[in-house]
Amino acid sequence: MAVIGCGDMEDAHQQVFAGLGDRITVIGTADVVLARAEHAAQALGAPRAVTDYTELLDDADACLIVTPHDLHYEMGMRCLRAGKHVLMEKPMAVSEEQCLDLIHAASTAERQLMTAYPMRFHPLVAHLRELVAAEAYGEVIQVSVYTEQHTEHPEGHWIRSAARLGGGQLFSHGCHYVDLLLWMLGEPVRGTHTGTRRGTPWMEWEGTSNAVIEFASGALGYHFGTWGARATRHGYAIHVHCEKGMLEADLTRGLLYAHHPWAGEARAAASPGGSPRPRARRGTHGGARRLQTPRRRTRPLRRLPGQRRQPAHRRPGQPARAPRDLAALRGRAARRGRRPARPRAERGMGPTGSGRPPAGVAQPAQIRW
Ligand SMILES: NC(=O)c1ccc[n+]([C@@H]2O[C@H](COP(=O)([O-])OP(=O)(O)OC[C@H]3O[C@@H](n4cnc5c(N)ncnc54)[C@H](O)[C@@H]3O)[C@@H](O)[C@H]2O)c1
Repeated sequence: MAVIGCGDMEDAHQQVFAGLGDRITVIGTADVVLARAEHAAQALGAPRAVTDYTELLDDADACLIVTPHDLHYEMGMRCLRAGKHVLMEKPMAVSEEQCLDLIHAASTAERQLMTAYPMRFHPLVAHLRELVAAEAYGEVIQVSVYTEQHTEHPEGHWIRSAARLGGGQLFSHGCHYVDLLLWMLGEPVRGTHTGTRRGTPWMEWEGTSNAVIEFASGALGYHFGTWGARATRHGYAIHVHCEKGMLEADLTRGLLYAHHPWAGEARAAASPGGSPRPRARRGTHGGARRLQTPRRRTRPLRRLPGQRRQPAHRRPGQPARAPRDLAALRGRAARRGRRPARPRAERGMGPTGSGRPPAGVAQPAQIRW
């Protein structure tokens, strides 16, 4: 394989190639900045580093193109026409016409053309998709994806330019999540997008983006993405609202939750390189068994001036009402000679709803991880 473009993505590719050492030989690296090509060649064990990528084509079966978006088309066409397979960093190109041309060239040359959408291979996302496909909690109503980041490149960087990037935040980063939404929800019918440069003046087009897609099934897909987040804890999550419960991938903490108001929640942690597996320890919550990951050691968060303490039941991963609180409430009621109220879950009521769980609701413990 020839690696074309050795900028910020080099580290990520180096890690992946390290695990594929017996299946991939990097025959050379190319970057217009020779020092970058040389650095990458050393890291990847490649014998050659060049500034003109076309010099590598004779010796390569495949090319990995990792350059600014406006170069993808020209480089991809050149590689495909030379009979090389192409793994193109996302997005494939900067216009629909260019993408169709590339796809046509790949099929004419009978070569593989693939866009690098690594989120499909994230263990939590892959598992979430299996649960969605199996309708573990019934039909999907909406999948919402939230990606909050602070991404600010220096003056003159190509990512700031709409022409070089191909658009704004949605085009460059949101494309990962549009891809996931299509992968999970199937045939799109129509969509709408709105964005703003407010708070991200370094971007020529939007730095904060909201996209909604309606699917043939009637389900909705949503992506909120920002490169303008200023926070100590940026959120990265996928929420799948289904008829009978909710599936939630917390990508920041590496946790997958399945929960509904009647039976509490099950959760599993991502295991690197594999499917998430539940840990052995089991606890009870709301009358239902739940799978639990071992407690993580966390530092207490320092509150900002004026910030109120978050109630315990709102902390991520905790049951809506902690068993300790119930015991305290019962003790207090007994001391006052009152009959303690039975927890809502024991009365067949969810924390925010009422009534019994509808027939056929999958209990969390029944979900196979
Ligand atoms: N899949 C992901 O999760 C992910 C994440 C980040 C970036 N990317 C993608 O990777 C690609 C590169 O992004 P980056 O952040 O590494 O950018 P970068 O600017 O850090 O690196 C691009 C490199 O291409 C080189 N280059 C420019 N013109 C060239 C030419 N004609 N020939 C050879 N090299 C040339 C530059 O010198 C630079 O070193 C983009 O498509 C980006 O969207 C993907």
